[in-house]
Formats: sequence, C-alpha cells, structure tokens
Amino acid sequence: MEDESPFKAEIVKGKVALLTGGASGIGYEISYQMGLHGASIAIMGRRKHVLDSAVATLLSHGISAIGLEGDVRKREDAIRVLDSTVKHYGRLDILVNAAAGNFLVPAEDLSLNGFRTVIDIDSVGTFTMCHEALKYLKKGGIGKDPSCGGTIINISATLHYTATWYQIHVSAAKAAVDSITRSLALEWGTDYDIRVNGIAPGPIEDTAGFSKLAPEEILGSAKEHVLADNKMGKKWDIAMAALYLASDAGKYINGATLVIDGGDWLGKPRH
Ligand code: HXC
Repeated sequence: MEDESPFKAEIVKGKVALLTGGASGIGYEISYQMGLHGASIAIMGRRKHVLDSAVATLLSHGISAIGLEGDVRKREDAIRVLDSTVKHYGRLDILVNAAAGNFLVPAEDLSLNGFRTVIDIDSVGTFTMCHEALKYLKKGGIGKDPSCGGTIINISATLHYTATWYQIHVSAAKAAVDSITRSLALEWGTDYDIRVNGIAPGPIEDTAGFSKLAPEEILGSAKEHVLADNKMGKKWDIAMAALYLASDAGKYINGATLVIDGGDWLGKPRH
C-alpha cells in the first residue's frame, strides 16, 4: 500500500520540474510525488523504453509528463533537453540531478576509465546540468518572476562520510556533488535567488543502489543489521524530502545536504 503524503496536494502546483534519472528508482519516485503534488514533469534518461514506461505511468495518474532522451555526460544533450523542457512547458523551476552510475569494485581492480566514468556521470553530469540550467532557473529567466529564482536538488549519498568498501569512485563523486551543492548555493543563491540543496539517501529498499551495491555475499551481516534494526528506507522517504526542499516549506534552506537514512551512517552494527 502507498504511504499517504503529509503535504497538501498543491505544494508545488504550477512548477515545472526536470529530473535526470527520473524514470527509475529514487528519481522516478520524486517525479511521481512532485507530479502528484501539482508539478509538471520532464524526465531525462538514456533508455527510451524506460522513459516511455515511466511517462505512461505518470500520465495514467493524471500527471503532466514528458520523457526526453539524453546522457548527462554530453553537454549537447543537457542543452537540448533543457531547451525542450522549456519549449514544452514555458519555464523551469526545479532541477533534480538524480542520474548516477555505480558498481562494486575493489580500488586496486578499478580501471582509470571506470573511476572517470562514475565521476563523469555523478559529478561532471550534475555540474553540466546545473550550468546549462542556470539561464532558465535564475530570477527573471524565461517564464520567471524578476525577483524569484528556481531550485536545484542534487541526489548524493552518505558513503563518503566515512569510507565505504569497494566504492572509491562513487564516494569521490558524491563528495564532489556535495561540494558543488555548497558552491552553487553560495554563488547562485546570492546572485540569482536559486536555492541549491542535496539529499543523501541511506539504504533504500527496491533501488539499484541497494540491490547492486549491497549483495548478500559482500555485505552479509551488515545488511542483516540494517534489516534487523529496521533501518531500511523507502523511495517515498526521499521523495518527501525532495518535496520539502522544493516547496516553500524549504524556502530558507540553501546549501544543505539532508541525510535521509534513519541515522544509519552514524554508527557501526551493535554486534
Ligand atoms: C569494474 C567496471 C564495472 C564493474 C563498468 N566498469 N562496470 N569496472 N567493475 N562492475 C568499467 C568498465 O570496464 C569501463 O572501464 C568503465 O567502467 C565504463 O564502463 P561502460 O560499461 O563502458 O560504461 P557505460 O556503458 O557508460 O555504463 C556506465 C556504468 C553503468 C556506470 C558503468 O553501470 C551504468 O550505466 N549505470 C547506471 C545505472 C546505475 O548504476 N545505477 C545505480 C546508481 S546507485 P574500461 O577501463 O574497461 O574501459 C547509486 C547509489 C549510490 O549511485 C549510493 C548507494 C548507497
């Protein structure tokens, strides 16, 4: 059964949101919840069939949605997708950078290209999307009030708060994402009234992040600990945080990365 939203149905009404990686996993849930709460949705992704299926589901819920093929590693794709979103909806208010790439590999076995690929998707891809979206998101941008800018949410992780086995590439990439969040919050918050925040999810059930990165044979007892202590989150938990940050409820929040993990990263297993 779906969890009920604690928010009013219109908290992001009239807003236009573009989500990279918004057709699956956490990104999709944010698309869905923003749509249910009144936003028009554009989803950017690499796989057409995944985009088509996500858009069809959103439309079936009465949500205004379009899918746009593109890879955040390609600047021309970023420009085209942003342009198409604004041509279609007339404006852009919310950019969610949820596209990410990952796999488990010991540092000594990771090729330089493997390291670079994840940095390219997560860190450079996030910066590219933000950079190309600036002209639409800033106060006075197309369809925007002269005194009111849009907002950016970068999906991060907690892996790099300590050190995480076999995750050197994504830990470095997400550390860069958090730093990008703070720098843009400072510069663009001041100059353009754009709030830039992050969300750092912990272990979230039914995501590629958890099934791909926490296989039984590698994490074993650690996974049992998470499950035994009932610390698994739901995609819904992340989407609610995104709604909070994107809506007026979060209008004084800028440069923060909100950890949504039930306190998981704070401690080691009890046994
Ligand atoms: C070692 C690997 C590897 C693996 C790829 N590589 N998979 N190395 N172990 N399992 C290396 C390749 O050998 C190559 O280096 C380089 O990485 C690029 O690989 P490609 O397959 O050519 O890249 P590409 O097709 O662009 O795919 C990108 C990808 C892929 C990141 C490798 O996994 C992907 O598209 N993932 C997107 C979906 C995803 O991962 N979602 C999960 C996000 S979860 P060489 O040297 O051979 O050329 C997440 C959560 C984080 O981010 C927080 C969790 C708690």
